[in-house]
Amino acid sequence: MQDRVIGVGVIGCGEIAQLMHLPYLQELPAFRIAALCDISPGTVDKIGEHYSVAARYSDHRALLADPNIDAVVICTYDHGGMVADAIRAGKHLIVEKPLAFTPQEARPLVEQAERSGLVALVGYMKFYDPGYEIGLERIAAIGRPKSIHVHDFAGRFDRYGKLYTQTRIADVSADLLAAGRNAVAKRIEAALGPDHAGYRDLYHLLLGLGSHDLAVMRGAFGAPSGVVHARQTGPNQLLAVLDYDGVPCLLDVALAQYEWWDEWIHVHGEREEVRIDFQNPYFRNASAIVRVREAAGETASERVIPGIPDTAFRREWLHFADCILAGAKPRTPLSGGLADLDLAVQIIQAMPPKRL
Ligand SMILES: NC(=O)c1ccc[n+]([C@@H]2O[C@H](COP(=O)([O-])OP(=O)(O)OC[C@H]3O[C@@H](n4cnc5c(N)ncnc54)[C@H](O)[C@@H]3O)[C@@H](O)[C@H]2O)c1
Repeated sequence: MQDRVIGVGVIGCGEIAQLMHLPYLQELPAFRIAALCDISPGTVDKIGEHYSVAARYSDHRALLADPNIDAVVICTYDHGGMVADAIRAGKHLIVEKPLAFTPQEARPLVEQAERSGLVALVGYMKFYDPGYEIGLERIAAIGRPKSIHVHDFAGRFDRYGKLYTQTRIADVSADLLAAGRNAVAKRIEAALGPDHAGYRDLYHLLLGLGSHDLAVMRGAFGAPSGVVHARQTGPNQLLAVLDYDGVPCLLDVALAQYEWWDEWIHVHGEREEVRIDFQNPYFRNASAIVRVREAAGETASERVIPGIPDTAFRREWLHFADCILAGAKPRTPLSGGLADLDLAVQIIQAMPPKRL
């Protein structure tokens, strides 16, 4: 790896930037925090003081014009247009999930990123979780599954967000924020079509919490051949059955208020079962835990593989440096983000019609 420090501009200095990205950017020698941007001037100033970063912007285009910036991480609400702007400005990038709000917005980004030769990753940090990596090896080893179950009921985000000091200055006009959300809602309605626009909020759940599940499923099993069944099962809850070349996969996603974290993949083989239990994403140094049930001679045996203690976000940044400085192949390219958006729309459109 070359001895070069990558100057990173952080666009969107909210929760995930403060909890995970900024601390690792400051800690890892491959990076330096070169500039900050947020539509909240108070937030960008506070974070700038804390990290001693003088280059502070409220418009991401001004940050992208800064020649001291080699790469950006996009941690705002609406990402697609910023990804296009970053590529145009010649900056490597990590874009937090989801890549964009609709497949129509995401499709050209994949092609633009590939043509640019820049490193462009979707922040699917679970791909870099050491426990997930071990789990994938175990899943591959059991051969063709008989069935798959992917379950994500999450847990209390407020509880874990409070483990860290956060700075939030409420100085952005409520009208501006509402206008942004309304514009996104219109784009989503258009992408879902009139018969399914009534599932707009459920689609948000699939892009927010659920996009991690679509991504880890894709990492383990590739693209499904179809959606067999999909239903809304509660205000913030859905259930779908996907088909992977004849192997059924039950996907259930909901926002529950558990005090624990409830997100796992369970793969049933002919003679073995593998389960990956993901940890709360806001815990540091806590990788996913793999559980294997198998035959040991004539008896049953259960093993727990705790995984190497590390933080998925930290390893995501190390991989980003490796891609930029040593030409490593991106493990979470934009094409995966597009595939997940396509599948999210497919799942919603497999539900009974629900107009607005
Ligand atoms: N990988 C993960 O596990 C994970 C976890 C949480 C959030 N996320 C993703 O990260 C993104 C941010 O989430 P969050 O929880 O940090 O939200 P947040 O609301 O706490 O932070 C977003 C920040 O972006 C700023 N912002 C909004 N529009 C902007 C613009 N046009 N220009 C500059 N700044 C702008 C806001 O003022 C705010 O400070 C979301 O897309 C979310 O899906 C990922």
